[in-house]
Amino acid sequence: MLEISNLAKQYDTPAGPLPILEGVSMTLKPGDAIAIMGPSGSGKSTLLYILGALDAPTSGSVRLNGEDPFTMDEVKQAAFRNKQIGFLFQDHCLLPQCSVLENVLIPTLPFTKKAAPQKDDEARARALLDQVGLSARVDHRPAELSGGEKQRAALARALIRDPLLLLCDEPTGNLDEDSANNVATLLFDIQKKRSNILIAVTHSPEFAAHFPARFHLRHRRLEKE
Ligand SMILES: Nc1ncnc2c1ncn2[C@@H]1O[C@H](COP(=O)(O)OP(=O)(O)O)[C@@H](O)[C@H]1O
Ligand SMILES: [Mg+2]
Repeated sequence: MLEISNLAKQYDTPAGPLPILEGVSMTLKPGDAIAIMGPSGSGKSTLLYILGALDAPTSGSVRLNGEDPFTMDEVKQAAFRNKQIGFLFQDHCLLPQCSVLENVLIPTLPFTKKAAPQKDDEARARALLDQVGLSARVDHRPAELSGGEKQRAALARALIRDPLLLLCDEPTGNLDEDSANNVATLLFDIQKKRSNILIAVTHSPEFAAHFPARFHLRHRRLEKE
């Protein structure tokens, strides 16, 4: 379960506090998928960063699987994020010097100095790359892939640790229509099989229409459509 309770966020700026989110509450269970829409600057990315434990709320709480990441120390929080949360951004954020397979394996690297991926991690990465249609591209560098292929590799990377929560920030924003449809279809196929909680920010009404529930960020609040 993801339990978001009375979340508020304000940024402290030289001009004074800048309120972004207020009274955001929601409970999602495994298998739930929601789209979040809203104008540029309305706080969509801010909300995703908080849900992804990348930035702390000003008040309110986030609990994933009963655990509140903002009560953890930095090391424990990083381990929690690494295991429980997958991210897919508008930009694929693949490392250019690594192969597709190595990129997918990055979240499995231990936090210690002995950073050798386990054999079953590699098998899982290959299976995921097969699932996203990239089995013929595992040894390629990101620069040799199309935009849609890069985003599919990034999706495989987001899923390698089988996170409970998958957060997507405009995942189809940089793609042409065909590639965007392809990534969207894949996201939903995988979502059905794995039962993660999928939260995607999007500007695309076509993409949002695929979701069983849509929310809009307006005047700092999250409203159900
Ligand atoms: N670190 C920050 N400090 C001050 N203001 C910020 C910071 N990050 C974002 N903002 C502001 O918060 C608002 C919401 O930003 P963001 O969450 O990125 O919006 P969206 O993703 O909906 O376009 C914007 O007005 C932005 O300028
Ligand atoms: Mg944004």
